[in-house]
Amino acid sequence: MRRLSVFLISIFCFVSFFQVQTVFSAAKKIKWSGPQAPPQIYQLSKEKASADECSKCIVIYGDTRTNHEPHKKIVKLISAGKPETVFHTGDMVDNGSNKKEWDIFEGIISGLRKNSEFFPVHGNHEWLSPNYFRVFDIQNWITFYALDRHNIHFTIMDSEVPFWKGSWQYKWLERDLKKASLSDKTKFMAVLLHQPLYSSGKHGAYDSPVVSRELAPLFEKYGVDIVFSGHDHSYERLYKNGIVYIVTGGGGAPLYDMAKESESSRIYIKSHHYLTLSVLKNKLFFEVFDDSDKLIDSFKVKEKKKGN
Ligand SMILES: [Fe+2]
Repeated sequence: MRRLSVFLISIFCFVSFFQVQTVFSAAKKIKWSGPQAPPQIYQLSKEKASADECSKCIVIYGDTRTNHEPHKKIVKLISAGKPETVFHTGDMVDNGSNKKEWDIFEGIISGLRKNSEFFPVHGNHEWLSPNYFRVFDIQNWITFYALDRHNIHFTIMDSEVPFWKGSWQYKWLERDLKKASLSDKTKFMAVLLHQPLYSSGKHGAYDSPVVSRELAPLFEKYGVDIVFSGHDHSYERLYKNGIVYIVTGGGGAPLYDMAKESESSRIYIKSHHYLTLSVLKNKLFFEVFDDSDKLIDSFKVKEKKKGN
């Protein structure tokens, strides 16, 4: 038992070291100017991105992996709405090192990417694979970055490389959230990362306590409004200490039953789905649709008063 523990700890340390070294060594080879939004095929105009209001202009979905037919169905529905911006919460493919899987993924989203910006969240199935960086045309091995759309500051994190206190990503995250919270241009703050802080799905019981212990205090300190994750293949809306937590992992991957209900949960739906975001005066309006385009949930997030 002791030998097994030592072996597992050694593996963990090796993987963590490798991940840090991978990111740092990649950064050394290129002229690193800090995390930034990766370049996209379709670029939204500045005027459009900063408009005060918009209807269903942003879409969030994730966890597509190997179930291509449900993924095609969801993408068809998303494309019909012609969103400006799409975020994928991670696990685009099952095996990040398999180019064939990426070819299929690219084929499914190619039409959508012609008219919509498409921003990825790095998931555990992407494995820091060169395929991931190639498909999204990411030059600097960036897996965490930030961007602003319609007065919403989006912080895209990577839960698959060190994110805990003292890590390079944590320091960047704190700087990013602090700067956004002090900006007059920021009305809302949203964070996306693959692994959820809170979830009633099967991953929630094991991984979430670590993620929430490290990140929730920071999100609460800087006034984050909403956090989007995937990893658990379901839709769930949860509330904790003034923040809305959304699990949106129903882009096509095999669906999960609820494993253990979180005390923060308000609604859990086992269904393929996607989520739309509309920006109204001083509030965000979210609608969630299943793969038949039936509305399965909706909610609002009001602008927090500065200084609260
Ligand atoms: Fe995952």
